[in-house]
Amino acid sequence: MSNNRFLTRFNPGPILPSKGEEVAYRSKKLIFLGFFGFLVILGFSFHSWAQGKAVQGKAVYDKYCSSCHGRQGEGLGPVSGLPNFSDHATLGKKSDQDLFNKVTMGGKGSGMPAWKGILNDQERWDVVAYIRTLAKP
Ligand code: HEC
Repeated sequence: MSNNRFLTRFNPGPILPSKGEEVAYRSKKLIFLGFFGFLVILGFSFHSWAQGKAVQGKAVYDKYCSSCHGRQGEGLGPVSGLPNFSDHATLGKKSDQDLFNKVTMGGKGSGMPAWKGILNDQERWDVVAYIRTLAKP
């Protein structure tokens, strides 16, 4: 079989797509890009939702902390020396890490329990995020 005959037999057709095919290809590309963009946006909103820890922290706080620190963090519980979380100045200068450490280790002999072993890391970070929201501006 000569090269020529091979080509006429198995000619795959024009290499360049026809106008219609090209439009179809372009719109497929657009649909794909649109879908991809949608996924990216979805991913980001999921990400920020997962970071919105204060919401979960409220449940932890109400259950484990409010008995001492008070529903609003005002510190009117049964032990003495309770900080007032609703006052902006109380936690203002402390970093999240400071608060996390305090919640984890508690205060030696102060009445503030150590929550390590009772609350996992995520729950302790969540509750830290939540007590930040108690400060009235
Ligand atoms: C048995 C009572 C009691 C319970 C329950 C309790 N705390 Fe405390 N907490 C205290 C006392 C008393 C202090 C002040 C003394 C100190 O800082 O050690 C304190 C201090 C703190 C501080 C330090 C505030 C500052 O000004 O540095 C943080 C943060 C805190 N508590 C968070 C929590 C969280 C979160 C929970 C729940 C997981 C909780 N506490 C549960 C009694 C309690």
